[in-house]
Amino acid sequence: MTFEYAPAPESRAIVSIKPKYGHFINGSFVAGKKHFPTINPATEEILSHISLGGLSDVDKAVAAAQKAYTKTWSKLSGKERGKYLYRIARILQERAREFAVLETLDNGKPIRETRDIDIPLVAAHFFYHAGWADKLDYAGLGHSPQPYGVAGQIIPWNFPLLMLAWKVAPALATGNTVVLKPAETTSLTALLFAEVCQQAELPDGVVNIVTGDGSTGAAIVNHPGIHKIAFTGSTDVGKKIARAIASTDKKATLELGGKGANVVFDDAPIDEAVEGIVNGIFFNQGHVCCAGSRLILQESIADEVIEKLKVRMSKIRVGDPLDKNTDLGAINSKEQLVKIKELSAIGDAEGAERWSPQCNLSDKGFWFAPTIFTGVTQAHRIAQEEIFGPVLSILTFRTPQEAMDKANNTPFGLSAGIWSEKGSRIFWASQHLKAGVIWANTFNKFDPASPFGGYKESGWGREGGKHGLAAYLKTGKETGAK
Ligand code: NAI
Ligand code: MG
Repeated sequence: MTFEYAPAPESRAIVSIKPKYGHFINGSFVAGKKHFPTINPATEEILSHISLGGLSDVDKAVAAAQKAYTKTWSKLSGKERGKYLYRIARILQERAREFAVLETLDNGKPIRETRDIDIPLVAAHFFYHAGWADKLDYAGLGHSPQPYGVAGQIIPWNFPLLMLAWKVAPALATGNTVVLKPAETTSLTALLFAEVCQQAELPDGVVNIVTGDGSTGAAIVNHPGIHKIAFTGSTDVGKKIARAIASTDKKATLELGGKGANVVFDDAPIDEAVEGIVNGIFFNQGHVCCAGSRLILQESIADEVIEKLKVRMSKIRVGDPLDKNTDLGAINSKEQLVKIKELSAIGDAEGAERWSPQCNLSDKGFWFAPTIFTGVTQAHRIAQEEIFGPVLSILTFRTPQEAMDKANNTPFGLSAGIWSEKGSRIFWASQHLKAGVIWANTFNKFDPASPFGGYKESGWGREGGKHGLAAYLKTGKETGAK
């Protein structure tokens, strides 16, 4: 006998959303000229109107960040900078519920994830970097490493506040000031973070947030007052940024796409592997650069794993992101839904076999059922291109070497997973996989102390850990960054 789940909606009373937002420049909110709506992708309800930043807004933000750098921030000791970071981390913890609800409303991801994963990781990132602020001389990054000055930071919509934390925390810890642009569909938590900066009495201009679209991002990239760029987003835009800064002295870290292989060997604990496969691709609606979007199964166990995976997928609850029972929320935007549908239709046309459990999807909002494709070959576009949605391509292998060859046969190299009972096989496979992050018998685990980044078209440089600090310091040893 199975029981239906009664709805368990989280209250949204804790958030207060203004009808209109300006930019956060020099410690205050300043009105923007043009605005565009931000919606709740689960309902298409307009939540607020966000300012579309132009050249003059970016100019003002860079000027404020430069002034804050020379007059205040660069004069503070690492210990004093650390105090601000600790304060921000504690306020984020205190206001965690508010951030979790707001992120779920603006992004469409389930409250279970914002509450238990995004926001705790955000606070952890600030705590971790607060600890580094006064120890940079002892980090093995050269004698007295120096910040660049103003860092320009452009972030995507899949983990809005977490990507802000990945960018802002190391920049401030290393003594840089910041001009950050959130993604157009998910600016609200960045604007709430601006309030946290005020609450923490962070000196004016140390953090500036200019909202807008790709043109605003390009204005940050091309601004002569910015010497360090940190970007997370699509490989296409990453390439544009690389071209834009090619003849300049600007440094950049680029965290781009992926097509992660999740490799399951015949000696793997199957039930655990099925959980890991589900977490690898259906976490955050599959809007994850390091998602395990290619499942590479040993042929002898393929039928058993696929059967168990289908049973498990039938239990995934798709629906209201604010419901505490929901596993899979809304697709972040109409554009992204169109892209997922298009690539899935290409999978059908190429001859792969599609399967999804029965789901009742709402007519309002943007939804896509959890989906697997079997019979996928390496030449299929759904085995090569990033779908960035809840869609898994399944391939099989006979020998371990074949598994490695298939796993590495992609233009990307961000993440990979290995499922095996044997330590020796895990070590062997992790030496052969060309991926910046490799998980063994788990997937999508994140820690601020662990460097994150990719090979090939997955990007330049590392974020997080000691490696991530290096990218914000002039004499730092940069791992792969320009
Ligand atoms: P995008 O790369 O266009 O957007 C990411 C950020 O870059 C946004 O803040 C955007 O405003 C900004 N941007 C856009 N054009 C720019 C330019 N010329 N210069 C500077 N900044 C610019 O990503 P989009 O269009 O939202 O998603 C498209 C695809 O990208 C997705 O389907 C997915 O495959 C991939 N993607 C990968 C992400 C990752 O975490 N690696 C995150 C988001 C998207
Ligand atoms: Mg939105």
